[in-house]
Amino acid sequence: MSPTPPSPQQPSLSGVHTGPLRAGEWVRLTDSKGRRNNFCLEVGKKFFSNKGHVDHGELIGRPEGFTVTSSLGAEYLVFRPLLNEFVVSMPRGAAVVYPKDAAQIVAMADVFPGARVVEAGVGSGALTCYLLRAVGPTGRVSSYERREEFADVARRNVTQWYAGEHPAWSLTIGDLADALPGPDGQDAEVDRVILDMLAPWDCVESVARVLVPGGMVCAYVATTTQLSKTVETLRVHGGFTEPQAWETLVRDWHVEGLAVRPGHSMVGHTGFLVTARRMAPGERPPTKRRRPAPGAYGVDYTGPRPEGLPPQSAEEPLDG
Ligand SMILES: C[S@@+](CC[C@H](N)C(=O)[O-])C[C@H]1O[C@@H](n2cnc3c(N)ncnc32)[C@H](O)[C@@H]1O
Repeated sequence: MSPTPPSPQQPSLSGVHTGPLRAGEWVRLTDSKGRRNNFCLEVGKKFFSNKGHVDHGELIGRPEGFTVTSSLGAEYLVFRPLLNEFVVSMPRGAAVVYPKDAAQIVAMADVFPGARVVEAGVGSGALTCYLLRAVGPTGRVSSYERREEFADVARRNVTQWYAGEHPAWSLTIGDLADALPGPDGQDAEVDRVILDMLAPWDCVESVARVLVPGGMVCAYVATTTQLSKTVETLRVHGGFTEPQAWETLVRDWHVEGLAVRPGHSMVGHTGFLVTARRMAPGERPPTKRRRPAPGAYGVDYTGPRPEGLPPQSAEEPLDG
């Protein structure tokens, strides 16, 4: 027997809603200049702007994807927000992972349907929404957050997006380094760990304890000093493969007749990503044959030092 397709009225576990707009749902009104307004539909309420107002009643009950005219004649495009629009406009406690990086995390940390994922910190819950979508109802996302006020913001955002509690999600208040393997040992064995926090290197030991062999750790950090310390700590630990580090830059294009050129502005920097895979218990990755770049671990370097480094002098120049 083929599975019954979900009814268009039933909120799916993707957070995507279809069918006529309903009270209690978020909509996005975009004006002719591309300015966006997101709000929750309520019976009897009005949306106000400097271009007059629109009654929520004019929107409720219509299928999204239409144009509405305000009391002063301005036109607005009406759609439900997509997840990539929701996460950058929802209320924030801490800074969010931007959609371009969330996409990289899901793809490059290989987050799959059914995966058991640990995430810390939860911040505003943006990445949580993506992870829940990727693991689906048969997976698990265990989020850890040390600040209760951020956890509250995340809980509201995730619940708003999924129109209720997501059955695959749990949220634990605590510092990941101390809290793993979680209440009642719930995260004693996991497939993926995603770290978006100030000091991911403090969690490497705890992460190594719970990751299955072949599992992946992925850290998202904002600065080069955090990037360096994260990579070197994973290397020194010895139970992970050689860490990979990268960033992504996304550039919009203006396409209009013969005027086809890069957009004038772009998001210059969001963060760096690092991934590594967990080795089996007691196994170590092959020893690096290549000598480190001259000066890489010279006297000015104060971070974790990989084993077996040849002594380097203060005068040795950095490879350039
Ligand atoms: C940049 S925010 C995370 C944003 C989140 N990924 C999102 O997309 O909305 C970093 C969060 O990590 C939390 N944090 C920092 N260190 C932590 C730790 N060791 N354990 C748990 N949470 C931690 C902070 O309180 C903060 O809320």
